[in-house]
Amino acid sequence: MEQFQELLQRVRQSLGIVKYKVLVLSGKGGVGKTFISVNLALLLAERGLRTGIFDADLHGPSVPKVLGLRGQRLRTSDHHIEPVRGPLGIEVVSMDFLLPEDRAALIWRGPLKSRAILELLAYTRWSNLDYLIVDLPPGTGDEALTVAQLIPDPRYVILVTQPTELSHLVVGRALTFAEKLGLRILGLVVNMAYLRCPQCGAVIRLFPGLPTDLGIKVITEVPFSTEIPRLCDHGITSPQQLPEEVRSALEKLADYIVEQTGVSK
Ligand SMILES: Nc1ncnc2c1ncn2[C@@H]1O[C@H](COP(=O)(O)OP(=O)(O)O)[C@@H](O)[C@H]1O
Ligand SMILES: [Mg+2]
Repeated sequence: MEQFQELLQRVRQSLGIVKYKVLVLSGKGGVGKTFISVNLALLLAERGLRTGIFDADLHGPSVPKVLGLRGQRLRTSDHHIEPVRGPLGIEVVSMDFLLPEDRAALIWRGPLKSRAILELLAYTRWSNLDYLIVDLPPGTGDEALTVAQLIPDPRYVILVTQPTELSHLVVGRALTFAEKLGLRILGLVVNMAYLRCPQCGAVIRLFPGLPTDLGIKVITEVPFSTEIPRLCDHGITSPQQLPEEVRSALEKLADYIVEQTGVSK
């Protein structure tokens, strides 16, 4: 078995040619982290930027499903792993591409999980990407931290939350997380922020408004849409499939990331 340090060195090499790594973090699971990650990748690719997505959530690696890529397999060539080519040419790597179809019985133990992630990162041959979006394990605990630690700089973070968990506590944890690792926090995406009444078009806030002094920039607010779960089940191949209001909220996120990192085409 190759030593940890050697693998880390390989990770630095294989991710060294990626200009910017954008880590997507959440306070807990089920807030739409994967949905946001996938669509951010697609929107950047749609602008002609070279983009990849790394699915680092081993509990429920769902990036392939949302991109309609389930059942595909990672291929290897001369000791490297080749990413799967997704819609709009995005490069996709996920443990899901290595798992048997029925993964119900799969239980990862902690150390094995981080080892698996480390090896995937070490051996993948990415192109010279502008952006790699990393869908981290949910939460701001050890697991997300372990993965984030493996990724070399420059690393940026966006935090996805729902209005229900928009608290100083969650934001505080995310800030501590970023500080520990020297990451640059770009800001917050509030998902399922509101619902637009299909009859009269009024905005319905399902939860109380945002606290004003969260201490973190709110980049965008994505509405709740009943179309989204259906789209995620079928696989999203282009941001054009998204409801207009959802798409423009996500465009704001892509704009902000491009503006903050300075890649343009
Ligand atoms: N803005 C939204 N409106 C409606 N449903 C959404 C929205 N964002 C995500 N979802 C749905 O919520 C569920 C959880 O989203 P997912 O991206 O898998 O969350 P996470 O990765 O944080 O666990 C999925 O069924 C997804 O389709
Ligand atoms: Mg997810």
